[in-house]
Amino acid sequence: MSSDGWWQDAIFYQIYPRSFYDSNGDGEGDLRGVTDNLAYVRDLGVDAVWMSPFYKSPNKDGGYDVSDPRDVDPRHGNLSDAKELFGRAKELGLKIIIDIIPNHFSSEHVWFKAALAAPKGSLERSRFHFHDGKDSKTPPNNWISLFGGSAWTQVEDGQWYLHLFDTSQPDLNWENTQVQADFEKTLRFWLDLGVDGFRIDVAHGLAKENLLQDHFDPQGLSNALRLDVEMDSAERSALLASVPFFDRDGVHDVYRSWRKVFDSYDRDIMAVAEAWVHPPERAIRYVRSDELNQVFNFDLLVSQFDDVELFDCIERTLKLMSGTQASPTWALSNHDTPRLVTRVGAEQARALALFTFGLPGSCYVYQGQELGLPDADLADADRQDPAFIRSKGAQKGRDGARVPLPWAGDVTPFGFTFGKPWLPIPQEWAELTIENQSKNEHSSLMLYHDVISLRKSSLSGTTDFAWTATPNGSGVISFRRGTVEIALNTSDKPVRLKTSGRVLVSSSEPNLVVADEVEIAPRACIWLELSNSAEK
Ligand code: BGC
Repeated sequence: MSSDGWWQDAIFYQIYPRSFYDSNGDGEGDLRGVTDNLAYVRDLGVDAVWMSPFYKSPNKDGGYDVSDPRDVDPRHGNLSDAKELFGRAKELGLKIIIDIIPNHFSSEHVWFKAALAAPKGSLERSRFHFHDGKDSKTPPNNWISLFGGSAWTQVEDGQWYLHLFDTSQPDLNWENTQVQADFEKTLRFWLDLGVDGFRIDVAHGLAKENLLQDHFDPQGLSNALRLDVEMDSAERSALLASVPFFDRDGVHDVYRSWRKVFDSYDRDIMAVAEAWVHPPERAIRYVRSDELNQVFNFDLLVSQFDDVELFDCIERTLKLMSGTQASPTWALSNHDTPRLVTRVGAEQARALALFTFGLPGSCYVYQGQELGLPDADLADADRQDPAFIRSKGAQKGRDGARVPLPWAGDVTPFGFTFGKPWLPIPQEWAELTIENQSKNEHSSLMLYHDVISLRKSSLSGTTDFAWTATPNGSGVISFRRGTVEIALNTSDKPVRLKTSGRVLVSSSEPNLVVADEVEIAPRACIWLELSNSAEK
């Protein structure tokens, strides 16, 4: 069918259901809470919602450990709540995509329980990666889990199973046709209920190579895969190029068959891959015309607030994607990384948001990013991330970025729940509630409203893009799209820009405008409407 490519320049809002809104007072967000508050998301001006997992799960990894991919976890509601949510999204004109997690199941999934009960070499075990160890006490190879510790766990009869993440997340064997068929069934199940697409978790992980061989530097490799470990970039690159379990050619067979499923529907279905690949050029393999529609670009998610770094990342991404049918994607935060404000600072976070909303392609906003929430400083006793638990505290984990949203009122938990929230919401967030920010025209929330609506009115339908300032030592980079120029000052000094343009929006007030100059505040971004003479 012909495609309107609704996702090409869409803004997606990522909902982490556990922390969005709790309607029943059990301290965890639920689908009803999302449905009842979806108008807040629509009012932001976004086009689509990405729902992080809400499937049946023992919740050892924030729901990314799925024990039944075709049912809703009772903590989040039930299937009719899901249907209501999809219906409400439609009513509000929002597209909805959901997470799908094909790399692993939860150890509570019936298949894994059956595998444990079945003998070595059985069909039940062949759906996962069960192998004999090198000897009775040594796993088949030396791979390290991304959450720390061995990537293998031994079962009663002495065999070992592979889990790239937590022990409770056994990796699936994608050479097994039952695994392939089961996922196609899951795709159809949710598509039949009305979703518009999928965010594919660990999309680069499904095919494994050299499963029975040691890696030459397992600890180095594990560090290279962790964003919180600093490493010389050449060393990191060399290690990342040697990963035997990510980005193997076999993953693409899976997405070719999924594309056929998507195309069998008479509406436009999209899928975006979470694929951390190296070198970055490999990413475009996921968006070949018979595969997926988008691949996440994680460069911005880890870059410093630095003109050279930002310019390089944007330029590389635009060039890479220009040779494909896919549009670029831009994400400044998600549920796996420190919150933007904590990573770069509050003013910088506002400036970066403005800058990226001007770029061609689609933007992903993680819930709470629009409020300028920082990471919460949690006590270790509150932390639940398996990365924290498995690494015995060496990795603090991602809980700080997953604290529930502060909605209203002066006292924590700020209307998120009438019970006890699953993670404490800092009392210092009183200023940051949605209620407060909605009343304050200078708030981060209002800035997002303004810039998203400007993007719609001034940039939709504009396909051109041209740099107007590249890094030159001043800290300023800028580009033009149609009649709009967008400039970012990453330096700590105000910078004057020659322009006849009129300021449309600015991340930091006020901007001094004199004659044909505008002054951009330190660490700020502005959008300018160019007068006719300045166009071209
Ligand atoms: C998800 C994480 C999760 C991991 C294992 C990721 O990429 O975004 O939250 O822990 O996959 O499923």
